[in-house]
Amino acid sequence: MTSDPNPIVAAFDAAAETYDLVTPVQREVARALVFRAAAAIETTPLNILDLGAGAGHVTGFALAQWPDAKIAALDAAPAMLRKLRAKYPNVATLTRDARDLRDLPSYDLILSSMMLHWLDDPRAALMAWRQHLARNGKLCVATPVAGSLSAWRQFLNASGMDDAIWDFPPENFAAGLGARLEFSDFSADYPDAGAFLRGLKQAGARTPRPGARPNRAGALRRLLAASPGPFRIGFRIAFLTLSADQPE
Ligand SMILES: C[S@@+](CC[C@H](N)C(=O)[O-])C[C@H]1O[C@@H](n2cnc3c(N)ncnc32)[C@H](O)[C@@H]1O
Repeated sequence: MTSDPNPIVAAFDAAAETYDLVTPVQREVARALVFRAAAAIETTPLNILDLGAGAGHVTGFALAQWPDAKIAALDAAPAMLRKLRAKYPNVATLTRDARDLRDLPSYDLILSSMMLHWLDDPRAALMAWRQHLARNGKLCVATPVAGSLSAWRQFLNASGMDDAIWDFPPENFAAGLGARLEFSDFSADYPDAGAFLRGLKQAGARTPRPGARPNRAGALRRLLAASPGPFRIGFRIAFLTLSADQPE
């Protein structure tokens, strides 16, 4: 267990053992991110940083794409990085907060998938990360935006219950930064709504939106028991590509 006071990080840390088993969408998003990064970068990257690397979905695809690159995987959750090292022992890991990269060097490629939305100021994070790009480097980020998980919100709201779904950034949150932006929709199917909720918890994505009012456990249990049948959930993913700030 981590002693990290950030409850978001603590929840992911506690889910490290189950994360890979319940994150098919995150895995597909990671694959798509590395595919886009390979198309965006003009030269073979020698130094790569994976921010919010978790158990290594992105790191794994990056290693396959650029086997000779030096990859550093950064995450604040130590148990996540232990899982990553078990799969990819040659990858250097950095256990620290992704919002402060001050003493880190420049990288040819910085990747980050499904993490930016957990930060208090996603736009500021993009600007800070961009400072760590080497000349001609690329920052490639995948993040869910508004509209993600809306099926769960509708499911609860239709029964008069509140949802605690995280506030995803609006689609235009990076306007003005000069990012190349593409959107893509991903979905996952569950046997029922309860299975989705269990999966979310086993992935560590259990921190409620600040200010959200918790539902009574009994009421939620009754709603789930009365709602058998398939449940589909969607993620709207923004893929952003930013270049290093070029000197005037
Ligand atoms: C949904 S997981 C994504 C992991 C991986 N990138 C993937 O695609 O599977 C989010 C990760 O971001 C990490 N994280 C959240 N906030 C962080 C922060 N402020 N600094 C560093 N890591 C953070 C969590 O510990 C978790 O491993």
